[in-house]
Amino acid sequence: MPGRTHSDRPPALDYQKPKRPLTAIVIGAGARGNVYSSYAQKFPEELQIVGVAEPIPYRNERMAQAYGIKDEHRFVTWEHVFEVPKFADAVIVTTPDELHYGPAMAALDQGYQMILEKVIAQTWRECNDILKLARKRDAIVAVCHVMRYSPYFRQLKHVLDSGIIGEVVSVQHLEPVEHLHMAHSFVRGNWRNTEESNPMILSKSCHDTDILRWLIGKPCKRVSSFGSLRLFREEMAPEGATKRCTGGCAVERECPFSAIKEYAERKRRLSHLRLEENSDAAIRQALETGPYGRCVFHCDNDVVDHQVMNMEFEDGITAAFSMEALTTYAGRRTRFMGTMGDIVGDEWNMQVTEFGTGKRHDWNVQQHAQALLSSGHGGGDHALVRDFVQAVTRSDPSLLTSTIEASMESHLMGFMAEESRLQGGAVKTIDLKL
Ligand SMILES: NC(=O)c1ccc[n+]([C@@H]2O[C@H](COP(=O)([O-])OP(=O)(O)OC[C@H]3O[C@@H](n4cnc5c(N)ncnc54)[C@H](O)[C@@H]3O)[C@@H](O)[C@H]2O)c1
Repeated sequence: MPGRTHSDRPPALDYQKPKRPLTAIVIGAGARGNVYSSYAQKFPEELQIVGVAEPIPYRNERMAQAYGIKDEHRFVTWEHVFEVPKFADAVIVTTPDELHYGPAMAALDQGYQMILEKVIAQTWRECNDILKLARKRDAIVAVCHVMRYSPYFRQLKHVLDSGIIGEVVSVQHLEPVEHLHMAHSFVRGNWRNTEESNPMILSKSCHDTDILRWLIGKPCKRVSSFGSLRLFREEMAPEGATKRCTGGCAVERECPFSAIKEYAERKRRLSHLRLEENSDAAIRQALETGPYGRCVFHCDNDVVDHQVMNMEFEDGITAAFSMEALTTYAGRRTRFMGTMGDIVGDEWNMQVTEFGTGKRHDWNVQQHAQALLSSGHGGGDHALVRDFVQAVTRSDPSLLTSTIEASMESHLMGFMAEESRLQGGAVKTIDLKL
């Protein structure tokens, strides 16, 4: 089929037990670093964590304790890892977005294989630098587009490739971020500011451009995009709102975004508050002094809270995507329209209906993939690590679907969509030359 690459194929499922465990160094032992490394606790015969770079002492200590990491292989920041000779097979780069390029380039330079969190890097030039060096060093780089590994999206890919709905003609895809997730990550938190991390269409939605490109299986030719920040702005603050929820705010009790309700009372999403222990006093102090106690209308955020993107793929296939922060629900909703039928899915359930017979096939992720659902992203987080271990130990990158090569196009779609949005929706042509 024109435009297809080897990486469009679902990964081979002929699992082979490695002869020895792959050894890896975690760079950035925060939320994601702990998710991927926990694979080593479940499957120590496949993966061993032998080094860590992490500036927050309790996180560094926690990882060293959990995996028995030697003192000489514990580092404060990523640079220190590469000041000593190579001592593991791979690195897992799970530092904040603005700290991907440095460790990725240094790791490739020393000959490490790599799991690299998305986004690959903050600019298209930097993404290309990493790709070029990976090729030069013949390294296997898995980009953490974890949705490609989740049972639901694998099944969706399998259904589309089976041809049951004929040729795909059009797609409608919605990512409802959920308003409190938005407030946490993209208003108060790490991904709130374009300069410091990335535009929303990359930091949140590179998963979406990536999954659409993968499922459609053909190159994207043109994009355009609109969107803006509507709600989380100074002018939208209700009367009586103070700079912090703990600062005597007159409307805190009725505000849906109250930090006191979210963190001190419901105790949700505490890991990014970076507390050694989640005691009431420590949470209160973090809200009084740290970023997560700020009023959502008085932050230094600039990323959009709603954005739409239109895409045209090869053969005139169209896709319409909406990233929506202002929802009470999460979970991506996707509809595929084909020449012989359609698919309606919501990350849990999928209905496939054939035009000819009117026959409807129902699929539910819980019935079919229970065993894989224990890790995050519907099981995708650990499935990515498993396939990375397989790819490296068998020297076969085709066992991974989200190699850096396969991930570049969806990043370019994101960079171009943002350019389009900033230019009022101008149509941008995608001309990918890798
Ligand atoms: N694939 C996904 O679905 C997904 C989901 C969430 C986050 N992410 C990405 O994962 C990355 C990490 O996110 P997170 O939620 O784990 O953040 P986090 O803040 O929990 O973890 C990042 C860690 O990096 C450490 N760090 C900072 N500077 C460092 C340095 N110089 N050297 C070494 N370590 C350093 C921090 O102290 C922190 O512990 C980000 O790029 C984010 O965009 C991906």
